[in-house]
Amino acid sequence: MELSDASARILAGLLEARTGQRLAVSRRWRIESALQPFVRDYGSPDRLVAALAREPMLAEAVVEALLNNETFFYRDRPAFDLLLGPALSRVERTRAQAKRLRIWCAGCSTGQEAYSIAMRFAEQKTRWAGWTIDILGTDVSRAAVEKARKGVYTQFEVQRGLAVTQMMRWFAEQDGQTWQLADEIRRMVRFEIRSLLDLAPPPPASFDMILCRNVLLYFCAERRRTVFSRLAGAAAPDSLLMLGAGETVIGQTDAFVTDPDCRGLYLRAPEPHRLAAAS
Ligand SMILES: C[S@@+](CC[C@H](N)C(=O)[O-])C[C@H]1O[C@@H](n2cnc3c(N)ncnc32)[C@H](O)[C@@H]1O
Repeated sequence: MELSDASARILAGLLEARTGQRLAVSRRWRIESALQPFVRDYGSPDRLVAALAREPMLAEAVVEALLNNETFFYRDRPAFDLLLGPALSRVERTRAQAKRLRIWCAGCSTGQEAYSIAMRFAEQKTRWAGWTIDILGTDVSRAAVEKARKGVYTQFEVQRGLAVTQMMRWFAEQDGQTWQLADEIRRMVRFEIRSLLDLAPPPPASFDMILCRNVLLYFCAERRRTVFSRLAGAAAPDSLLMLGAGETVIGQTDAFVTDPDCRGLYLRAPEPHRLAAAS
């Protein structure tokens, strides 16, 4: 498959306009491998690109194919241990009166991140008795959200990141090939199709913890700043932000600051930044 520079630029431009994700034309192999099935149907990459303008559904499908949905359970285990260990204990103390925790996984892909958190709460039933735990997962990808809602994973997917005990406890093997997540865990998480670039306000809640991991990495600096501001606008005072292993707020935004007690996590900056962020 020979992808011309012009076609690669159009495809990368489409992805960026719809999702904010930047795909360097130099990484054309990524475009070529993702779009192989479409190219087979349309005969050539250039014909596929020409069809985009005529077929809006095709553009959506192409964007879906170009998105990187890589994820797995408890991805980056030390970071999860920090979040669900000392950081969560602190949040538990500061929210002890309200006994309510709202958690947002922004860019949740096929659900493993949000379900990793839900499983941990379900495994600590006594500790969280009487608490209301709301977990929201959002992603721009319709296919990813639909899969997340179903909670059905392949053998390979359940083996990535999960201890065997968790796999046996929370999943039922369906047909020798796929594993169905228990309803008890599925019911703990709500999923929505939502882009971080939406002009609509972020979900109308004050989240105590926001995970936005391995999403902003491929945004341009300006979009990243805008999204950080939006996340800060949706965050409760003293709420926590968790990014991916290769991401930071340092030098990117003043809406969040490093957490002095939990290195690698971030706290929403004090009020003046939040007001600036919301404007
Ligand atoms: C690499 S995955 C990371 C998934 C998960 N957060 C993790 O770290 O394992 C990135 C996800 O971000 C989603 N995404 C990309 N751009 C987005 C946007 N503008 N709004 C919401 N989600 C987006 C993609 O669809 C994809 O599912």
